[in-house]
Amino acid sequence: MDKLIISGGRPLEGDVRISGAKNAVLPILAATLLADGPMTIGNVPHLQDVTTTMELLGRMGVSLTVDERMRIEVDPSTLHQCVAPYELVRTMRASILVLGPLLARYGEAEVSLPGGCAIGSRPVNIHLEGLAAMGADIRVEGGYIRARANRLKGARLVLDTVTVTGTENLLMAACLADGITVIENAAREPEVVDLANCLKAMGARIHGAGTDTLTVEGVSSLHGCEYRVLADRIETGTFLVAGAMTGGRVRTRDTAPKTLDAVLLKLEEAGAHINVGEDWIELDMQGRRPRAVSLRTAPYPAFPTDMQAQFVALNTVAEGIATITETVFENRFMHALEMQRMGADIRIEGNTAIIRGVPRLKAAPVMATDLRASASLILAGLVSDGDTLVDRIYHIDRGYECIEEKLSQLGAGIRRVPG
Ligand code: UD1
Repeated sequence: MDKLIISGGRPLEGDVRISGAKNAVLPILAATLLADGPMTIGNVPHLQDVTTTMELLGRMGVSLTVDERMRIEVDPSTLHQCVAPYELVRTMRASILVLGPLLARYGEAEVSLPGGCAIGSRPVNIHLEGLAAMGADIRVEGGYIRARANRLKGARLVLDTVTVTGTENLLMAACLADGITVIENAAREPEVVDLANCLKAMGARIHGAGTDTLTVEGVSSLHGCEYRVLADRIETGTFLVAGAMTGGRVRTRDTAPKTLDAVLLKLEEAGAHINVGEDWIELDMQGRRPRAVSLRTAPYPAFPTDMQAQFVALNTVAEGIATITETVFENRFMHALEMQRMGADIRIEGNTAIIRGVPRLKAAPVMATDLRASASLILAGLVSDGDTLVDRIYHIDRGYECIEEKLSQLGAGIRRVPG
């Protein structure tokens, strides 16, 4: 198992190109199952989760080709089975995203039930209840969701909780349903909007993307199209935090500044100077130590849970005391325990972390437990005395493209060692 070694103490300086968004490309690849013809998806990030999704589609018989610029051509017309097996779903929960499209387009789906994961129980009841309300017959047997429907019917759905992949699954299913579907309390995340834009380019009739009410007028078929995936706001935010923590200056390119409002406000509160253009963000910390920033995670447009761990890392070396409250997932402070081993002063009380900043952390061997936790441990390594060894970095390869190359480009001391 590969490990990363980070030699801390250098301020990051320079430009970094932001990749396509993991959380947008995964539903968009699932949406290709709805098309009657080939689709070309551009700005695809080179990530383990993308490889897993391609393997998943490939097992179903879908034809896929990737060119040297990571554009993926998907031809779903060769599909011969509607199954998402356990061995793939257990490595990537977002595999559940094929459920809605398979059911809507092919009338059946057999998708392994994703289990719990390091950050909480993560049920999929809202996905299943929504599809059942649209007329699907759904059984859960032997760890698999088995769903059938002749043709889904439009329905009014009021989601109990704001769920990103739940909204996406139901949105995709509604595109080919008979009649109108209204999804209330829908997720407003930019990745949901990106999926809706892709579906519209395929001929879907969707209104209200980016609001909490989506209205979908079902059509009888969707066609192929070419679509370019949105930039990754979480990757962008992670590099900006790296700049802020190290007292450096970082410019993120090919990004989507409008999707980062809540994160940029917190970085300014930490004392960073931020400049924004159409597709770039520059952060300058001018050699200073960040100030402590308190926050609470919540669905978009509030502060994203996927940036929580990185802000815990920032606060470990900030001036002052911060409280960070996690409201989206129940168990998302595993990184805090690892950071304590690096000398961070963090106390966890229920779903809140209370962090008293120290001037520097001390290197220690640490273990990544999930995707964003691993990013935060790398950030902590950047401000530690000595060499930090981060183990189990397969988590980071699921969601960050070439992280060590990009950080090295900014002047960080980081290298991968085969384990
Ligand atoms: C997506 C993102 C993930 C992000 C999360 C929250 C993808 C591929 N992943 O995950 O990076 O951290 O949104 O922004 O886009 N819930 C239920 N029942 C359900 C579904 C969800 O109770 O049927 C609960 C979850 O347990 C959680 C909350 O709703 O507490 C939000 O989860 P959800 O938005 O569904 O997360 P994902 O879509 O899995």
